[in-house]
Amino acid sequence: MLPKKVEEILNNQIQKEGYSSNLYLAMASWVDKEGYAGIAQWLFAQAEEELMHMMKFVHFINERGGHAIVPAFEQPPAKFDGIHKLFAQVLEHEQYVTSLINDIVALTIKENDYATHNWIQWFVTEQIEEEATVQTIIDKLNMLGDKNIYMFDRDIMGMRGQEE
Ligand code: FEO
Repeated sequence: MLPKKVEEILNNQIQKEGYSSNLYLAMASWVDKEGYAGIAQWLFAQAEEELMHMMKFVHFINERGGHAIVPAFEQPPAKFDGIHKLFAQVLEHEQYVTSLINDIVALTIKENDYATHNWIQWFVTEQIEEEATVQTIIDKLNMLGDKNIYMFDRDIMGMRGQEE
């Protein structure tokens, strides 16, 4: 049985993962409109991945005898301030998500909920990968500079395949 406090924090994470998906979807749409097909492709895939994260929480809560509640999602921004800032925002957002996952880990220990503790490790690993991937993208962007965003856009097209 899922301890009440753990059920609450996992339900809270449904909202966070769903918002992440919408945020990346909004970024993808803006980037697409700006003409960067490669970056848009990466962000659309990222949005789908976040949706999958959200679903994992929904299924796990219900499997453990809790009730997954589908929340309202705050509207993400529609416009972004250039490609460099956009990826800095992605990294900042992922670091925030990592802190939320760490809070879940800490609570599972406090509540002696070792089943959830074990299950949440997948997200601990996932966050390491996500932060590292975004950092690699930012490093590439910094190397290429502002004038070569088009080149970067071509380059990122192949990145998703390498990760998976
Ligand atoms: Fe679901 Fe990117 O954290």
